[in-house]
Amino acid sequence: MDRIQSCEHPIEPFYQPLNNEEALFEQAWRHGMPVLIKGPTGCGKTRFVQHMAHRLKLPLYTVACHDDLSAADLIGRHLIGAQGTWWQDGPLTRAVREGGICYLDEVVEARQDTVVVLHPLADDRRELFLERTGEVLKAPPSFMLVVSYNPGYQNLLKGMKPSTRQRFVAMRFGYPPVADEERIVAREAQVDNALAAQVVRLGQALRRLDQHDLEEVASTRLLIFTARMIRSGMSPREACMACLAEPLSDDPLTVAALMDVVDVHFG
Ligand SMILES: Nc1ncnc2c1ncn2[C@@H]1O[C@H](COP(=O)(O)OP(=O)(O)O)[C@@H](O)[C@H]1O
Ligand SMILES: [Mg+2]
Repeated sequence: MDRIQSCEHPIEPFYQPLNNEEALFEQAWRHGMPVLIKGPTGCGKTRFVQHMAHRLKLPLYTVACHDDLSAADLIGRHLIGAQGTWWQDGPLTRAVREGGICYLDEVVEARQDTVVVLHPLADDRRELFLERTGEVLKAPPSFMLVVSYNPGYQNLLKGMKPSTRQRFVAMRFGYPPVADEERIVAREAQVDNALAAQVVRLGQALRRLDQHDLEEVASTRLLIFTARMIRSGMSPREACMACLAEPLSDDPLTVAALMDVVDVHFG
């Protein structure tokens, strides 16, 4: 059975705005337009959606997409219990009924036949067909569909079909500019500005190393992990090995090359 995750954050999740993304998202919501957020892993997409859900006072249903995800996983299914069969709403249906946000993370992982159920919701109809029960749900004005994906190397072929993507207002996220990333690392890892700045400088240097054919570069998330480990007493070298070099590559030579850069910054 699927467990449905809804989170209404009791405390406001910290979010450092980087551009006009808050205004854009809010306007899209007011106009009933769905939003697509593209950006590399660990750059703040999920945090941003949590922040906006809190700010707009909307329940948030998050679905991590994968290639086994079926339309029923989103919409719902009949289950058999002690009292016979009963219908259980999926997260998308819940979000529609409650007028909340349904956030589909890594949407390109989902099969096309799953993504198709979003179409009538993502255009002017704003309707969800519950094939199994025959219901047609009209989304209330506050309902919003948000999808995200990482347009990195592995998704070049997958992508999203133009017929799907042209229904969305699209926003591109990247890693934050230095000053913002320092503030984020200091705040999220609870470290002083000097250490945050040092970790972010290292992150910048690691991101410039593209000759090591890394699949992905050091994310803001990994910089936060590193700073947290240093704060709790690990040596910077051990923290960087465990939180940056090893997560970024399986190739020992590449890990060693990354550690050379670490040694320049924390030697
Ligand atoms: N603009 C931001 N404001 C606040 N925290 C951020 C921001 N960008 C990134 N983060 C931090 O980085 C972490 C990873 O971001 P997340 O939203 O999970 O990435 P994504 O969903 O893009 O993979 C978050 O948990 C948060 O601590
Ligand atoms: Mg995410």
